[in-house]
Amino acid sequence: MSESRAFGVYVHWPFCLSKCPYCDFNSHVRHEGIDEARYIGAFASEIAATAERAPGREVSTIFFGGGTPSLMQPSTVQAILDTIAKHWTVARDVEVTLEANPTSVDATRFRGYRSAGVNRVSLGVQALDDTALKELGRLHSAREALDAVAVARSIFERYSFDLIYARPRQTPQAWAEELKRAIAEAAEHLSLYQLTIEPDTPFAALHKSGKLIIPDDDCGRDLYDVTQEICAKAGLPAYEVSNHARPGGECRHNLVYWRGHEYAGIGPGAHGRLDLAGVRQATATEKRPEAWLMRVESMGHGLVTDEALTREEQADEYLLMGLRLAEGIDPQRYAAIAGRTLDPKRISVLDEEGAIETMPDGRLRVTQSGFPVLDAVVADLAA
Ligand SMILES: C[S@@+](CC[C@H](N)C(=O)[O-])C[C@H]1O[C@@H](n2cnc3c(N)ncnc32)[C@H](O)[C@@H]1O
Ligand code: SF4
Repeated sequence: MSESRAFGVYVHWPFCLSKCPYCDFNSHVRHEGIDEARYIGAFASEIAATAERAPGREVSTIFFGGGTPSLMQPSTVQAILDTIAKHWTVARDVEVTLEANPTSVDATRFRGYRSAGVNRVSLGVQALDDTALKELGRLHSAREALDAVAVARSIFERYSFDLIYARPRQTPQAWAEELKRAIAEAAEHLSLYQLTIEPDTPFAALHKSGKLIIPDDDCGRDLYDVTQEICAKAGLPAYEVSNHARPGGECRHNLVYWRGHEYAGIGPGAHGRLDLAGVRQATATEKRPEAWLMRVESMGHGLVTDEALTREEQADEYLLMGLRLAEGIDPQRYAAIAGRTLDPKRISVLDEEGAIETMPDGRLRVTQSGFPVLDAVVADLAA
């Protein structure tokens, strides 16, 4: 898991066939179709512009996220990968992940993605229960999702899938059964997200009007505990709050974010962190796909945010991201970034409360009982 100089490239494909009512990702439905050739040109310009600012990097991970990247033609994915390789050196063991919706149509493109250079897929299975899938607004059945997982397994050595739990009426017993069935289909990695009611989504409106009732905090805590217990027993412990892997099967791209390494954000609404001449730059591009296209076509890039982070901001980010990981953070690295050490008094209070612990190697991490209150722990340490 050593990634001392990791550099990731995130590529955002902002389109979906339909919008799921719980989702607030930057994803859009375009019934009139999408001019992929035009997007290929814009992605190429933005990659070139980013590489000009951050030259000489060796790309260790590439992640096609969305939206639904499995709606892209394999030739589009190929063109983007070729452009990345033209502007940066690509590591021999590069991890190239593509997020896919688990429908049969999307799965027919898997072989093409493999030939293009993708070596890992992450499928949004969400649930193994057809009633729940319908309620989540998904276009696939559980059977179809499992068939797509089987296709992924036959083509890719590495695959993962996502499930959403703490759904309406879900009991810890029912979730335990579903999770065990999922683990039987999993390889080295699973992402397990607790359903979040995101502002301004159809689910938020239903929740507000009392038509969508989700498990309360106590039940949510039980569901979380069941998740940890079953996954750990199955050899898939959490390496991050919502991500589980066999040792060595972690998503290296997501580790780039959580370990505070460098990454380029390409495509509409993509975020990046670039270390330029000793300054950490936070970047973000225009979110609306057509506005992003026009901006890139006229200016060569889609940046709308390009800010130097202060030491304090960088240190907060390192805490916020690093404490999500089971491996925790290195207090010395924190001190080097912040220009001050973490407050020993706060550490000892949180330690006595059982929320954090210091490892024999000096790293600081959140404990199993601290994870459900992670935001409060981070806020306390950062204050
Ligand atoms: C960009 S999507 C994955 C790829 C693909 N678009 C799909 O849905 O199959 C990322 C993942 O975030 C999770 N997610 C999105 N909104 C969520 C929410 N409100 N609560 C919990 N998980 C959510 C889902 O598990 C989803 O698979
Ligand atoms: S969950 Fe996935 S498929 Fe559904 S709207 Fe969000 S990005 Fe699109």
